[in-house]
Amino acid sequence: MAVLKNIVRGVSSVRSAESVLRGHIKVFGPVPVASYMKECLSNGKDGYYMTRNVFGHDGDFVTSPEISQVFGELVGIHFVNQWQQFPSKHSTVDLIELGPGRGTLMADILKIFNRIPQMSNKVNVHFVEMSPFLAKTQAQTLGVTQPNEEAPTEEGTSVTRQTPAGVNVQWYRKFEDIDIKGFPMIVAHEFLDALPVHQFVYTRDGWRERMIGLDDKDKFQWVLAPSATASSRSLGPSGKYKEGDVYEVSPDSLHTAHQIAQAVKDDGMALIVDYGNKEPKRTPTVRGYKAHVMIEDIVEHEPGEIDLTADVSFQAVAKVCSDTCATYGPMSQGDWLRQMGIHTRTKQMVQSSQTREEQVKIIRSTKRLIDNEGMGSLFQFLSLVPISVDPPFPFVKANSCTAPL
Ligand SMILES: C[S@@+](CC[C@H](N)C(=O)[O-])C[C@H]1O[C@@H](n2cnc3c(N)ncnc32)[C@H](O)[C@@H]1O
Repeated sequence: MAVLKNIVRGVSSVRSAESVLRGHIKVFGPVPVASYMKECLSNGKDGYYMTRNVFGHDGDFVTSPEISQVFGELVGIHFVNQWQQFPSKHSTVDLIELGPGRGTLMADILKIFNRIPQMSNKVNVHFVEMSPFLAKTQAQTLGVTQPNEEAPTEEGTSVTRQTPAGVNVQWYRKFEDIDIKGFPMIVAHEFLDALPVHQFVYTRDGWRERMIGLDDKDKFQWVLAPSATASSRSLGPSGKYKEGDVYEVSPDSLHTAHQIAQAVKDDGMALIVDYGNKEPKRTPTVRGYKAHVMIEDIVEHEPGEIDLTADVSFQAVAKVCSDTCATYGPMSQGDWLRQMGIHTRTKQMVQSSQTREEQVKIIRSTKRLIDNEGMGSLFQFLSLVPISVDPPFPFVKANSCTAPL
């Protein structure tokens, strides 16, 4: 039973992800994709994010903030613009990032905040991070001392540390552990796509859950639940579907999005940025990445060895938030960065760079972020603000997506 508990909570630490999953499947049968994904990414012993660097050239993937500082600077300017328009009743700002990776995005946002005298001494940073290894990296990136002690404790919260500029930084295991007292500014970049998803296939007998089991040689394999499961009954959508259509849903990411909406319902703002589509696709999107190569069949690799990710359904995220706050977007990354002035900032950086090599690198990075064939259209920005507030630039009123699923 302890194994099952660990799978459900995704916190097993003594046994490897592979051993936990094999043990569970042998005793109880195939597991939903969501449980498999959670164990692979967050197993305390060898979960994908838990013990090593996975970012950058020598890792498995590169994220936008790691490509160019402009990304984080423009997110910082977006937050500052809004804060300046609505001098809040709060005297402090709670700047919260979910899934901060190496801490690069936060470092670039803080560079902008530190240039605004009215803001620089008001900001408290809160990181939601499950990986003790990445928490240490984030501490190093922000220049926070005693990096060995930064990971959250068993209770879920770390002690507060200070950056050299005097900004308080704290780590949390979960978003709900944060006691928000100031003006909340929340960013989740490539966070929701790392949360577990359930997959269902529409059959002539209704929705059936895609699961992962073991074949007769003890290798992981895909199987379809032979009958309806509690998840397929409760999460499978109604509406018109044809045989073979796939429906993916991530209760964890919808729950997180709803918590974010609750946090900004009276004051503040949130930005959710991720891979995804406005309309949910009807094909599976769970995939892996290893050494910058996409892996379609995730069970071909050992659990914990590859990154696992799934597209975010922005329509579902917006829908779950829309009773609580206003949602604007999704807007493509290319459009969002162009309207926020990426070209002007790129020009400034090129002018102040010393070598031709540097200039070429800056221009290439900007192109990579906004290219319509690549990251510019793959990634989407969604804004959450109180219902009483107009859309923060560059979002517009018409830019809302809460059509029925
Ligand atoms: C794909 S990385 C994104 C990193 C960063 N935002 C960036 O864009 O460079 C996902 C991040 O979310 C963290 N993470 C994933 N699942 C989590 C969970 N359930 N709770 C807390 N942190 C999680 C990972 O450890 C990692 O820091």
